[in-house]
Amino acid sequence: MIRSAVRGVGSSLPRRIMTNKEFEKLVDTSDEWIVQRTGIRQRHIAAEDETTASLGEAAARAALADAGLTPDDIDLIVLATSTPNNTFPATAVEIQERLGMRHGFAFDMQAVCTGFVYAITTADHYLRGGTAKRALVIGSETFSRILDWSDRTTCVLFGDGAGAIVLEAADGTGSAAERGIIASALRSDGSQKDKLYVDGGPSTTGTVGHLRMQGREVFKHAVGMITDVVENVLEQAKVTPEDIDWFVPHQANKRIIDASARKLGFADEKVVITVDLHGNTSAASVPLALDHAVKQGKIKPGDLVMLEAMGGGFTWGATLIRW
Ligand code: ACO
Repeated sequence: MIRSAVRGVGSSLPRRIMTNKEFEKLVDTSDEWIVQRTGIRQRHIAAEDETTASLGEAAARAALADAGLTPDDIDLIVLATSTPNNTFPATAVEIQERLGMRHGFAFDMQAVCTGFVYAITTADHYLRGGTAKRALVIGSETFSRILDWSDRTTCVLFGDGAGAIVLEAADGTGSAAERGIIASALRSDGSQKDKLYVDGGPSTTGTVGHLRMQGREVFKHAVGMITDVVENVLEQAKVTPEDIDWFVPHQANKRIIDASARKLGFADEKVVITVDLHGNTSAASVPLALDHAVKQGKIKPGDLVMLEAMGGGFTWGATLIRW
């Protein structure tokens, strides 16, 4: 039986850090309101020369270095993003070109903040099905380009960045004790699309549009959706919350993370938090948090790691990995 094992992880952040204080000059807000309601203290904002492709490439190179591999060793790239460099071609193929890869295949995946969980699950299926041997799974976003910088209810929440992992097909028996992706659950519900969306696109307005969100409505649904998929994955893997070493949630809001962890029974010290440093980086948030936790010496080989995300659509999903 083939399992997709994690070989390496890496990330990349734009040079510029923007603090909450700076928003006080742009909109009617305060550092105190942002910290209290969201847990966010700062975020990184991309300069003109920093794009979803350049950040994604840097994260991919970092993950390859961590894995001790080169682009020649990779035969699949799945990029999770809602902020591609161009409407087409896929930004994944631009990253493929930047890495100097002339073989294999690459494509983008769009599930907003759940993008990385969708992408890792998709890559897992390609590896287990034998279509590819090693995959780069990247989450890269420049949400700063689709924010309405005059709307205080959204502009303070998001940031830019990228994270990546290298997955490798490995032989095993299918036991939860073996390294790799053990189980995943994906969901979506298009009836909720008006709660979180971008008000433009190629086929409608012909523009890129701006992010619009009914924050309170999203908040109301978030904990239920997160616990739904995490409990599904725990059940599939026949493990309990106590067995989980690290809970790596999508980093949208510290209050949503705390409420979900409490409901699921994950102890505070097992929860990885980076929302204070990065804000909500959409599809990049989970791999950025993973890399942060690995670099801090928290996540170690053999640990049981639960990933989870929810976002526009709505979409939501969870993945369990033996690191
Ligand atoms: N500064 C100051 N006041 C503000 C700000 C701000 N930046 N933004 C909103 N307010 C005001 C509101 O106008 C409102 O004022 P009013 O009572 O006079 O109308 C008041 O603060 C309270 O607003 P709420 O929306 O009720 O505040 P809430 O506690 O719900 O926090 C927040 C808002 C942070 C957006 C929260 O609802 C949230 O995190 N929602 C979920 C967002 C999320 O998880 N998104 C994830 C998916 S992202 C993706 O997929 C792309």
